[in-house]
This record gives sequence, C-alpha cells and structure tokens, in this order.
Amino acid sequence: TSAEKSGFKHFMLKEIFEQPNVIKETLAGRIDEDHDVQLGPELKIDEIVLRAMTKISITGCGTAYNAGMVGMYLMRSLCKIPVEMELASEFRYGDRAMDARTLTIAMSQSGETADTIEAVKIAKDAGTPVIAISNVVGSHLMRLADATLLTRGGPEISVAATKTYVSQAVAATLLALYLARVRKAAPLERLREIAEGTKLLPAAVDVVVNTSDQVKKVARKVRKARSVLFLGRYVNFPTALEGALKLKEISYIHAEGYAAGEMKHGPIALLDAKTPVIGVVTEGRVREKILSNIAESKAREAPIILVANHGDDEAAALADHVLWVPRVDEMLSPIVNVIPLQLLAYHIADIDGKDVDQPRNLAKTVTVE
Ligand code: AGP
Repeated sequence: TSAEKSGFKHFMLKEIFEQPNVIKETLAGRIDEDHDVQLGPELKIDEIVLRAMTKISITGCGTAYNAGMVGMYLMRSLCKIPVEMELASEFRYGDRAMDARTLTIAMSQSGETADTIEAVKIAKDAGTPVIAISNVVGSHLMRLADATLLTRGGPEISVAATKTYVSQAVAATLLALYLARVRKAAPLERLREIAEGTKLLPAAVDVVVNTSDQVKKVARKVRKARSVLFLGRYVNFPTALEGALKLKEISYIHAEGYAAGEMKHGPIALLDAKTPVIGVVTEGRVREKILSNIAESKAREAPIILVANHGDDEAAALADHVLWVPRVDEMLSPIVNVIPLQLLAYHIADIDGKDVDQPRNLAKTVTVE
C-alpha cells in the first residue's frame, strides 16, 4: 500500500531515500572518539588471529558481490594483505587454496542465498574463519559464520537492492579500517582521516538523493538506448558494475560495467551515437586516466554522462549531462557515487512503466542453486 511506501511511488525509491539514515545506522557506535573503528566487541575474533591472517577471500552474488569489491579495494590499499574476490557460484566449484590463515568474508543481504551459503561451507571445511556482512539477524549465513557484521539496513522490499548495497559497502569499509588498525598495516592518521570522513556520508548522500528530479531529466535521454556502458576504475569499478546491474534488473536495457582502461581491448567497438557511456570521474588517483578513456568514447560519438564532483568544469566540458555529487574521501566515494546511478535506473524503469519493485524473472532471495 502507499502507506507502507510513506508516500513514495515505489519501495525502491523509498529505499533510495532511506540511505542517509541507513548509513548512520551502519556507522552507529562503531567509531570511537579518537576516530578508531572498534569492531572487536561485535566480532569477538581474537586480534591475534586477525594479525596472523595471510590472505583475505571475499565472496557473494550480484549486488552483494559488487559491495564486496568495494571492500576488496579498501583492504588491498589499507591492510597490506592479498585479497581475492570471487562470485560465490564460482567459489563453490573452484579449486581454491585456503587454510586457517585465510579470512573469508561472505557478503549477503538476506543471508539465505544458496550459492553464498555453499561457498561458506567450503571455506569453513578448509578451516578458514568466516565473517559475514549481512542484513538479517538469525539468517542461515549468520548461524554458519564465526562472526557477523550487521549492516542494519532494515527490511528491503524492492527486489533491486539499493540501501543494502550502500550499507554493505559502509560495513566493508569499517571492516577494512578495523583490520588495517589491528594489523598495523597503514598509518593510524590515515585510517582516522577516512573514519572521520564517514561522518560526512549521510549528508553527502542526502544531497544526491535530492537531485532525483535532475536525474530524471537525464533518464529521459537514456531510456531509448539499446545498450549502455558504465565505466569506472579502481574503487569505482564496482560502482560501474552496480550501476549496470541496476539498469539491467529493472529497465531490461542491456548494460555492462567495465573497468574503463579495458575499453580499448574490445568494448570500444560497440560505441556509436546511440550507445551512452556513463563514467565515474570523481576526484582520486585514476581521475585523469578515466577522463582520457571517456574522451576516447566521445570521439566515437557516444553520448557522455558523467558522475562528477560539484564544480568540475573539465567534466562539464566533456559531458552531455553531469550527475553531480559532493566531494568525499576517495576511499569513501563509491558510497556516494552509486546513488545517482540507482536513481537513473529507477527513473528509466518508472518512465517506461516497468514493474520497478518486482522485475520480471527475478526473486529477492535466490535460495536455489
Ligand atoms: C540486487 O539488486 C539483486 N537483486 C541480487 O543481485 C542480489 O544482490 C543477490 O541475489 C544477492 O542477494 P543477497 O545479498 O541476499 O545474498
């Protein structure tokens, strides 16, 4: 009913707008006055065990996998430890080297996804400690895992995950900061700087959800496309993957998320004046690189839409349309940059009268293999 949707047309839009509060919930009580992330009391895994780990292995499906990839980039950067990432459906049949010094991190909103559960069973059989990042207390996954970091997103009704993606990315960020501190792998000042930066996220995300009407105008330009390419690099490669997944799920428009540097190795052949390219070019170490990847796409006449920081004249000059977002620490930028892409997918599906909350062929939770 519309009462349950609090006046929003769809649960998906309501859940997109809940994100500033969800981020506050995910952060609550987990960062102390010194800006140190404190997860010890929740995880109850001895810090000696965490210090002895030689590898991190992250798994999940769909949107949960994409959120795990945000964690992967942060852990690689901050924790000085090899980090592997694999889809749970591949993990369960792959031949993987893992032992008691491998830390498995399983991402699942529901905690009931069959492939993720099976992957975790295999990891446990190999003796790895398992930390779940999950939204549902008492789920199958939570019972299997040695520890759970709850995302506290509240119930998500829309089949297309939005607030649970963002809360998983925030939780994975907290876990990266915690592991880095425990392992003394990064300068404490840098970890504290990122942790302090998380406090700006609810307001930054609030600014972006309130650009919904502007994003809707861009949606009108993109909705006739047969195919859309989403480009990101480094910490925003998962943002591109998630933007593409959202669009596919609810609008049924073909989309691909690509690491922008890979364009010239094949996908650039797809481009023409009818194939929009959506690039994430917010500030950070790969900004100049991705701007030049976008310029190459523009040279093939692709319509260009960029997710860029307020005041970015270079992006404005390059793009046909800009989806503006506030500046935050680069390592936190995936949490903000995905929001306009959620809104874009939403508006395209809504304008075209699609069943936004219950897209065809999809189940909220995939409990079969
Ligand atoms: C997200 O929009 C999808 N509906 C889907 O990819 C989902 O994220 C995936 O099935 C994993 O679900 P889980 O987080 O409950 O394990």
